Amino acid sequence: MTNAVNASGPGLTTTKAPFIEQAVRDGQLFIRQPYELYSEANHDAWRRLYARMLPRWREFATDAFIRGLDSLCLDPTRIPRLDDVNHYLAAQTGFRAVAVSGYVPAADFFGCLARREFPTTITIRDGATLDYLPEPDIFHDIAGHVPMHADRAFADVLQRLGACVVRATQLVSASAGPDREARAASTERAIARFFWFTIEFGLMRAANGDGLRAYGSGLLSSHGELEHSLQSPDVERLPFDLERVINQRFEIDHYQPLLFIVDGFDHLNALVTTLERAVDEGRLENVTADAADFPLT
Ligand SMILES: [Fe+2]
Repeated sequence: MTNAVNASGPGLTTTKAPFIEQAVRDGQLFIRQPYELYSEANHDAWRRLYARMLPRWREFATDAFIRGLDSLCLDPTRIPRLDDVNHYLAAQTGFRAVAVSGYVPAADFFGCLARREFPTTITIRDGATLDYLPEPDIFHDIAGHVPMHADRAFADVLQRLGACVVRATQLVSASAGPDREARAASTERAIARFFWFTIEFGLMRAANGDGLRAYGSGLLSSHGELEHSLQSPDVERLPFDLERVINQRFEIDHYQPLLFIVDGFDHLNALVTTLERAVDEGRLENVTADAADFPLT
């Protein structure tokens, strides 16, 4: 493999990438990863992000994340090629990272998960703002999410969540009544909240019984929030309560003050089974509303 670099070009920096702007103008959501466009500054941002996260992952991440990270053979110094990531990932769980140009509507996002595809941002944050970024970037998506996708039990949860939304959409579409769209939106919102408090910000009891570990990618891609989530007295950490989670609003622009704990992957899988049953019985069709929509990935 080669690492050709367009060091003098504008690069693929979040919110400053002409390639992405053109793709959006052309209405292209699923794109290729134009690896040659990454600048040296882009690779340097990846290198610095990775170097400072590594000791924190070893201290705070769940064992499955560390195993997944090792299995992907990521280069700590260069932005990964999705083809290389998929070479190692697909062989383990059948999941694949697919490049997208930006925000993926919820129905499309969950449809991808149902096919074991993970919509993946290919830009990387500006090196001057390593700490906070409202948009997802390739460090969040590949270093934060994808190592967990190498775990078979976790990959199954992710695929089942996607299938849950697909099935809910089919069920609501086949039903009658003027409130059909509202019921569909409610179900999608409930599952998105489940996703948020598990896949993005989940905590798990350590396999050896020694405290808690993070498995949520929003935590695993944040140098500051990973430690904060497990050690700050300002964070409320509660045993997972499905009814509460699907009705729980959240905000994306600050550290999460409330997190939920699962006992392990068997517990997470059992929760998804309960969620699937709730979809079939129409019990997600009237959850608490949000003031605004929220992004996934
Ligand atoms: Fe994410």
